[in-house]
Formats: sequence, C-alpha cells, structure tokens
Amino acid sequence: MNKKTVKDIDVRGKKVLVRCDFNVPQREDGTITDNRRIVSALDTINYLLENNAKVILCSHLGRPKGEFKKEFSLKPIADELQKLLGKEVKLSSDVIGPDAEKLTSNMKEGEIVLLENLRFHREETDNDPEFAKKLASFADIYVNDAFGTAHRAHASTAGVAAYLPAVSGFLIEKEINFMGNALENPKRPFVAILGGKKVSDKIGVIEALLEKVDTLIIGGAMAYTFFKSMGYGVGDSICELDKLDLAKEIMQKAKDKGIKLMLPVDTHVGKEFKPDTESKIVKYTEIPDGWEGFDIGTETIKMYVEELKNAKTVVWNGPLGLSEFEKFATGTDTIAKALADSDAITIIGGGDSAAAIERMGISNKFSHISTGGGASLEFLEGKKLPGIECLLDK
Ligand code: 3PG
Repeated sequence: MNKKTVKDIDVRGKKVLVRCDFNVPQREDGTITDNRRIVSALDTINYLLENNAKVILCSHLGRPKGEFKKEFSLKPIADELQKLLGKEVKLSSDVIGPDAEKLTSNMKEGEIVLLENLRFHREETDNDPEFAKKLASFADIYVNDAFGTAHRAHASTAGVAAYLPAVSGFLIEKEINFMGNALENPKRPFVAILGGKKVSDKIGVIEALLEKVDTLIIGGAMAYTFFKSMGYGVGDSICELDKLDLAKEIMQKAKDKGIKLMLPVDTHVGKEFKPDTESKIVKYTEIPDGWEGFDIGTETIKMYVEELKNAKTVVWNGPLGLSEFEKFATGTDTIAKALADSDAITIIGGGDSAAAIERMGISNKFSHISTGGGASLEFLEGKKLPGIECLLDK
C-alpha cells in the first residue's frame, strides 16, 4: 500500500483518533451477533496501547439519521471491546459535546475513550467541516481503520484528515494488500464468483473483473436475468427485465475478451418463498411457470467445484442461492467448502458470503475475509475510496 500507516508515525504519548467500523449486526436487545468487525480493529488498538498512545475510538452504528436514539448507542460495542481488550473503555455520552471533551482532555497514556455514535449528528454524513474540525480537535493524529466505511466521504472517514496527520490502521492496510494484490498481481488462473440478487448491483464489479479474471462464475438470483436475456422463461424468479440488454452485453464482452463466463446449467426451484416449500431441480432452460429459482442446481455445483480446482486466486462476492433457507443453501455451502479446502488464495468480499462462511464455522480456512460489504465491492470495481484517498502518501 502506498499510504502511511500507524507504523510510519510517532504515536508515543499522542492522542490518536481512530475511526473504526463497529457497525455490527445486533439482535433487538442490542446483543452483538457477529463481532468480527470489532475483533478486526484490535491489532491497531493494541499497537497504539503498546506504544503508549491515548486512544480515542469513534464509529457509526446503523443509520440513526442525525438524532440520538438509544437503540443505536455504542454501549454494547464498548462492553464488547472492554471484554476483548481486558481493559476499561470509557464511553462518552455525547459525540463532540462536553462529555466527549471532558473524557478526551485529561487522558493518560494507554487509556481508551470511545465516542458515542457519530451518526447522532447529521454533520457526520454531510461531511461538515466544522464537525470534522471539532473531532480533530480532540487528537494529535488521525488513524482510519474503518475499511467497511471507507467508501463514504463522511466527516470522520475523510473530512477530519484535513486537520490532522492522517494514516491508516492495520485493517485497512491488510484489506488493501489482499484485495489490491489479487487484482493487480493475481496468481492465475484467477476466478471470480459473483452472486447476489441483481445484475444492476454488480454491474460495476462485473465490468471491472472482466478486465482482470480468467473465469467469471455467476450464481444467485442474478443468473435469471441472464437466462431471460437468452430468451428462456424464468417462472417467478427474480429478474430485471430492464437489464436484459446489459446481460447480453456482458456475455458478448466476455466472449470478445476470451474470458470464461460460467452461468448455471440447472437450478433449484421452489413453489413458494418458504423454508420448507416444495422444490425440484430443473435445467436452466426449463424453469416452469409458477416456480421460483432459489439456488444453483446439482450439475452446476459440480461444474463450478471442478472449475475451482484449478484456480490459484479466487475472489467471491455474494451468495449463490437463498442461503438463509437451509434447503437452498447447498450451492453457497458447497462452494464455500470447496474454497475452504483449496490451496488457492481465497478472498471473500464481505457481506452475505462472509456471513455464510461465519455460519459454517470455516472462516479460518480463507486467505482473507473482507470486513467491507459496499466498500469491498467498490474497491473491486476499481473505485477510489475517500477514506483511503485522504490518507498521507508514503
Ligand atoms: C457497512 O456496513 O457497509 C458500513 O458500515 C457502512 O454503512 P452504511 O452503508 O450505513 O454507510
């Protein structure tokens, strides 16, 4: 990475404002259901503590839209951090108000303060300069480690860098190194697997990957738009009728470039959107009326697993079927297992595919699981991320 990191700056005795992405999934009572994003921030926090910095953490949680709302408080995050670090984490009751000021003004080396949810102020998402300046006034150095929010140009992810020396944390460094290397310098064959509902959500990433990969594997509901564009019926499957030309263009582009674009050859269809619905596997050309495609079929799974055996680098984004329902999780789970057993460099581009791997308890078998959903997609698309662009160059 060509951006400075915490290692390129003297943090000893300094107040360091660290932007993390603690936007974790929670139950209604606030219980955290997946703490990966918090765990991923520990390397940077521990490094700062070991180097006698005074650590001021900040993050958003959800989208409270500029208002204080108790259910969006970072209290559960403070508790989890405290548990993971084995150290007191003081949570301020406001973001840039008197309590934040008080807690951050008399800090000792090795102390940790967590500011309340940044998005309790609309100025955060508006990237308001005064708000950014006020945040900056609490610290001597700014560290961005919020990879998951690096695609947002907000006050705490980009604006604040105008007022403080700005460097990246270890998480951003790791994310960029893994995904950047895969894109720029992949060991070949380089295979991308894209799932998810809509072609329109993934078009940017499909186009960017067509410039890089040897094989592009398509799964998820997105596949039905491709089938329809070939003139086949898709029953009640999700299908973007206004994207049929786009699907055709993608297929043509892949052909012109000599890239292997793989689409399902069969599909697991169900009668209703229910976990225990009646279901069957049919050829992609024979989806009956009144049925909806929920997963890739058995032949497709075999074909994809076979293709992945030769891969040396694999990037995967988006589940291949309706993996929330056990009956339709076979495609996603079998591909996940194949990748877990593979010697290739395996990179999971965040979001729902990462959740599936977490559910299966095989996270440690992948080279890298990104903490970014939208951010990793934008990174794979080749877009510049404001939260990274604003950092000091090496
Ligand atoms: C995410 O979960 O993708 C990030 O935390 C960003 O959240 P946002 O989409 O609400 O900006």
